[in-house]
Amino acid sequence: KPITTPNISSCRASTDGFDLKSAIRTNACCPPNLSKKVKDFVFLSDKSLRIRRVAHKAPEDYIDKYKAALKAMRALPDDHPHSFVSQAKIHCAYCNSEYTQIATGNSDKIIQIHNSWLFFPFHRWYLYFYERILGKLINDPTFTIPFWNWDNPAEMTLLAFFEDGNNRKEKLENPACEAFRNTSYFAIADLNYSGDDSGFPCAQQISINLTQMNNQMTRNVHDTRSFFGGKYVAGSDPIPNRDSSIGSIEVVCHTTIHRCVGDSRMNNKEDKGNFYSAGYDPVFYVHHANINRMWVEWMELVRVYNKDCVCNDKLRYAYKFSPLTWFKNPT
Ligand code: C2O
Repeated sequence: KPITTPNISSCRASTDGFDLKSAIRTNACCPPNLSKKVKDFVFLSDKSLRIRRVAHKAPEDYIDKYKAALKAMRALPDDHPHSFVSQAKIHCAYCNSEYTQIATGNSDKIIQIHNSWLFFPFHRWYLYFYERILGKLINDPTFTIPFWNWDNPAEMTLLAFFEDGNNRKEKLENPACEAFRNTSYFAIADLNYSGDDSGFPCAQQISINLTQMNNQMTRNVHDTRSFFGGKYVAGSDPIPNRDSSIGSIEVVCHTTIHRCVGDSRMNNKEDKGNFYSAGYDPVFYVHHANINRMWVEWMELVRVYNKDCVCNDKLRYAYKFSPLTWFKNPT
């Protein structure tokens, strides 16, 4: 049985995975108490395709729109379910032991949506609604979030508009900027980050990143489990961080970017370097938009199995007849 949604009112404040005393974001990550009944999701009736764009290449008016939407989201009262703070708290709630699997009677089993096959689907839904809320706030149902295309050499730098602003005041007014992050050291995101600036020249860092991408998308992926992550079902304990069954993209490209964007001077590496605070940095969402893209792309990659090449006719090719003159050749 799959992990079910938790009982929303069973949420408790988190103390998991960070030092509470030095925490700079709230550990009360429970969503506002909803009196409404939870209903099933229905797909939008509008069937038009909304295209998410490469953030580095996005035209200025699109970035302006994105900033306006973010600004409107930040302007909502914190306890509004659509507020930026509420969005950030959702991540904390599902990652820092706020919930137990109470709905299945396993009230001692906590819910952790990382380190397992829940990683991709949870974040896909999370981004989906984040995007729709932003669109709604600017009255544009066609709105899409941009993605940080960090797997492409030309787009491995942190996006400039996240840091736009000539001084502190202007930066605080930039709704994409307001966050704790480490922008001082990296010119190029380090997909191999291990806690320190690699110090490599750009060309070398790019080639390391490309190797990591290839490893995590193809070379190290032997089956669906190695890509998506290990089984995590109702009644089971979460897979521990650093377990070998974490999916290939989650464990490397995902986590390294989190860590290199988080502020390493902070005790808890806020914002992006810790689950509890990661959602407070707008970079989180453009980063995850690219993580989600890896799922899309991986599904498109073709893997062949030797068993399928046994029946040649299924591959739909044949040879023109030519007599086998050697067949009856006497020895
Ligand atoms: Cu829920 Cu990038 O983590």
